[in-house]
Amino acid sequence: MSLFSTRRSIKPAVMDSHREVSREALVEILGDAHCAPTHGLTQPWRFHVFTGAARARLGDGLQAIYDRVTPASARNEEKRSKLGATPRLAPVVIAVAARVVPNGKIPEVEELLATACAVENLMLSAHEKSLGSYWSTPPVAMTPEFAAWLGLDATHRMLGLVYLGHPVPGKTPPPPSRHALGDHVVWNDA
Ligand SMILES: Cc1cc2nc3c(=O)[nH]c(=O)nc-3n(C[C@H](O)[C@H](O)[C@H](O)COP(=O)(O)O)c2cc1C
Repeated sequence: MSLFSTRRSIKPAVMDSHREVSREALVEILGDAHCAPTHGLTQPWRFHVFTGAARARLGDGLQAIYDRVTPASARNEEKRSKLGATPRLAPVVIAVAARVVPNGKIPEVEELLATACAVENLMLSAHEKSLGSYWSTPPVAMTPEFAAWLGLDATHRMLGLVYLGHPVPGKTPPPPSRHALGDHVVWNDA
């Protein structure tokens, strides 16, 4: 069993909200994310880390953005309440953005791909330290309004939230059943 095959998405509801993640561990995890490959070494990822009381500020901010961007006809109280509550459940929440230079040498899609590589590094590094992680992409956390709330300008694309925390023992979900590898690979030998 490898680090890759044993990583699971661990949702905040099954993280131990009272057990903090040390700043030292977070710096190592973010340092591993920062080793991801990037075309032209643009290193487009931006990580805004929320711990302690800042998590409640994040939950309140997401709800306020939801109220602003959601038409009355589409409002869903359960979704709104989850947006506010979930960041309070995990000890660490990381908002992920990618910087895209308008008309730059590197196309937007490559900056998004590089940032996704950084997030995978981050989640595997957390797993190596026995921490759970979960990448969540509620529509509000992908909006330019959320980027602005974080103080980021219009050259940034939001890619969601990554939750980190110690899994509650015995609550790790079983591995999801995946397609056969052969359905996703074409071998060309001659
Ligand atoms: C880009 C991305 C966005 C995701 N967003 C969500 C999400 O919004 N809600 C959710 O329940 N899971 C989300 N996930 C997690 C997947 O549901 C999860 O990775 C998948 O079920 C496989 O489980 P595993 O991570 O334990 O292998 C996301 C994963 C990725 C890579």
